Amino acid sequence: MPQEVLTEAAAEMLDWHGSGMSVMEMSHRGKEFGIIYEQAQADLRELLVVPANFKILFMQGGGLAENAIVPLNLSARGSPTGATGSADFVVSGSWSLKSQQEARKYCTVNIAASNESDGHTSLPEPASWQLSHGASYVHICSNETIHGVEYHTLPDLQALGSDAALVVDCSSHVASRPIDWSRVGLAFAGAQKNLGPAGLTLVVVREDLLGHALTVCPSAFNYKTVADNQSMFNTPPTYAIYIAGLVFQWLKRQGGIAAMEALNQAKAALLYDAIDNSQLYLNKVAPHCRSRMNVPFFLRDENLNDAFLTGARADGLLQLKGHKSVGGMRASIYNAMPIEGVQALVDYLHEFQKCRG
Ligand SMILES: Cc1ncc(COP(=O)(O)O)c(C=O)c1O
Repeated sequence: MPQEVLTEAAAEMLDWHGSGMSVMEMSHRGKEFGIIYEQAQADLRELLVVPANFKILFMQGGGLAENAIVPLNLSARGSPTGATGSADFVVSGSWSLKSQQEARKYCTVNIAASNESDGHTSLPEPASWQLSHGASYVHICSNETIHGVEYHTLPDLQALGSDAALVVDCSSHVASRPIDWSRVGLAFAGAQKNLGPAGLTLVVVREDLLGHALTVCPSAFNYKTVADNQSMFNTPPTYAIYIAGLVFQWLKRQGGIAAMEALNQAKAALLYDAIDNSQLYLNKVAPHCRSRMNVPFFLRDENLNDAFLTGARADGLLQLKGHKSVGGMRASIYNAMPIEGVQALVDYLHEFQKCRG
């Protein structure tokens, strides 16, 4: 979270703008929350340049719930009434692997491509994807948080001869760079990396994809119902929306998404250069698809892992231990991490290497 946002939220915690209420105490249907909600919607639309024919939904359930909600809403599109449909998945790491497992409960799943054989360290070229005929959508995870693999450009399904909708799980890098909406049918993201606190899930969906839900789809998860009720079919995560709104205003003050992208590129380059130019550290991801948000790296001598983490903690560098399924280290350098924070890590990498050299 940006420090400025936390300070602002703390100052407004007991009394929002002289309303006599904390945001947590407001009715989601009241005038005050209405102002917060409308502003957050407008700011996000402006920041991400979301076209008018896309709805912005503020939902709950996180990225994992979307793995079920998406097929519940989209898979039957174009299928005979009552029939479940099919979807294509590109497996590029743990999160897309999970997505296709969940979708199997609701539709037929075709794995169009997978990078499992290289340990999720590269991205299969879109031209090599085995897209199936009649699939309603193609799911990708545009930034694999655990494996550190990112699509630097989104695939163009039309150019690949497919009329399926592209569904993008952008949970861990949303708002880190612009999105080419001409290639996207639906994008979803849990808020807790770049947008705000856990509890809010962002869904941006093209209007023609609404209204195709399976009859078993819970009403609160039916995108059309949610859209028709301005995300207030049931009580939305009001405080999380408020904080996300403060983050959106912070993003605008930073110069918007293009400025964030430039900063994120600089931050990532600083860290990858330090890793690539060392004898001690190693990043295994192919350079053309390295994540600018999540940088997994290994110490070539794994026996040094504990000493590395202890020294890092002493320098105030926290949460560097890699995900248990991958091991090693992982630096997550989300939007709110200033370049000075990345520089502090790079300094520590050099210092630790010198001591071991
Ligand atoms: C890319 C991606 N997708 C999905 C998820 C799951 O999100 P949630 O825990 O909000 O369900 C995560 C969580 O880290 C993620 O990074």
